Amino acid sequence: MENISGKIQFLLGDKIHSVVNIAPYMTVLDYVRNYLKLSGTKEGCGSGDCGACTVVIGELVNEQLHYKSVNACITLLATLHGKQLITVENLGDNNQLHPVQQAMVDFNASQCGFCTPGIVMTLYALTKNYYMPSKKQICSALVGNLCRCTGYRAVVDAAANIGKQKMYEINAEHEFFIINKLKEIDSKTVLHLTSDQNNFLNLKLLDS
Ligand code: FES
Ligand code: FES
Repeated sequence: MENISGKIQFLLGDKIHSVVNIAPYMTVLDYVRNYLKLSGTKEGCGSGDCGACTVVIGELVNEQLHYKSVNACITLLATLHGKQLITVENLGDNNQLHPVQQAMVDFNASQCGFCTPGIVMTLYALTKNYYMPSKKQICSALVGNLCRCTGYRAVVDAAANIGKQKMYEINAEHEFFIINKLKEIDSKTVLHLTSDQNNFLNLKLLDS
């Protein structure tokens, strides 16, 4: 049995989540699917090429939240320390689809559905960063998401017609809460994960 030390803390959705006894090389994709049993995030290529595993990471930079979509299959879990992880399970609720999901439905932007959670998360990050994304910004955001059956016209149409005002209200309600939650995590302490054969050291924190 490997001897593993170090603790990772991040927001999973809007709740603080702690991880101990985890290998330094654990990816976000393996963790959410195999440990958390959150299977909405899909595994396609496993090497950062298809976008099926797209999740969104929120980070506090100069007191402001910044969001980006990443490939969970090539992102180490330890890099989430002090950040927010949003998976497709965090969107919408039992009664109502998230506006991004609703737009995908309204514009028939999904067929087999395998790429859909990843595309939804890419568009979610896009609408977090742009109030009214242009077609160029939409197409640029989608370059990492492969869809082999629906094609992209319906997806781009969906992205251009997301209920923007509603999205803006959702963002405003949550932002203050998330910022305060992130501040509860001690992200200034250098994270050092060790196992018998591997190490993870947050060099970015050492620099700052
Ligand atoms: S599974 Fe294809 S990019 Fe991650
Ligand atoms: S809907 Fe089938 S791969 Fe995109």
